[in-house]
Amino acid sequence: MVRVTAPAQLTVRDVTVRFAGLTALDGVSFTVEPGSVHAVIGPNGAGKSTTFNVLSGVCRAASGSVRLGGTELTGLAPHRIAALGVARTFQNLALPPYATVADTLMLGRHRLTRAGFLAAGLRLPSAAREARAHRERVREIAEFIGLEGELDRPASALPYGQQKLVELGRALCTEPQVLLLDEPVAGMTADERRRTAAVVAGVRDGLGISIVLVEHDMGVVMRLADAVTVLDFGRGIADGSPAEVQNDPAVVQAYLGAPQ
Ligand SMILES: Nc1ncnc2c1ncn2[C@@H]1O[C@H](COP(=O)(O)OP(=O)(O)OP(=O)(O)O)[C@@H](O)[C@H]1O
Ligand SMILES: [Mg+2]
Repeated sequence: MVRVTAPAQLTVRDVTVRFAGLTALDGVSFTVEPGSVHAVIGPNGAGKSTTFNVLSGVCRAASGSVRLGGTELTGLAPHRIAALGVARTFQNLALPPYATVADTLMLGRHRLTRAGFLAAGLRLPSAAREARAHRERVREIAEFIGLEGELDRPASALPYGQQKLVELGRALCTEPQVLLLDEPVAGMTADERRRTAAVVAGVRDGLGISIVLVEHDMGVVMRLADAVTVLDFGRGIADGSPAEVQNDPAVVQAYLGAPQ
């Protein structure tokens, strides 16, 4: 499960996003260091999901830049950004119904499939070898997320917390450099939260993948994050270590002033 290459730095510079009259992001900047957990927090409507939508190419920035290493990501289609190694999970579950855990994880391997459907259809040996390698990797990742015993079960039949882990696993199956997690522990029991936090820490420490984490659970943020960016009304109001931002008066004010 060890990565061969270190992930590149992800730099967000002066990103502005507007929706018909509303400025959802207003000159947001932050840098995600390779192999770190970088949390993006803020009250409801602060622009956290919009930030993810820009990073993954779902949403176009009116201005500003997002770079992965030397590569400019702004303006690229979502599948191009995914192919460059930026994977995401969604705030709400987005698992295909009826598919088994193994099939769902295999969906994440598709962008890596070289032999293609033609070779697979013709049953060429290269395609068979590749399919075996993909199945092996799916098994490794299932072990990594603690679901190797559930590979043949329909993902939608699993408890909610495990379904969220399947989604995380599917993102890992794309072999990303950067993983965007939108509220990974939302709606989970305390036990599921602990387990998911341990998996996320493992993704950083064991796989060396950079993680951008949007999460309302401050306990999880403070325990996992190496750095935190705080947004309020689309603006970056603080940046620093968890301890630094926790004691920042502007952050305290943003949270106290907002209905949670
Ligand atoms: N597609 C859209 N069209 C119009 N306005 C939008 C759209 N997406 C988001 N917004 C608005 O942009 C602002 C930022 O929304 P965003 O979803 O990024 O917030 P958030 O920080 O993720 O909030 P939450 O914590 O509730 O998930 C909000 O005012 C929201 O209503
Ligand atoms: Mg959101």
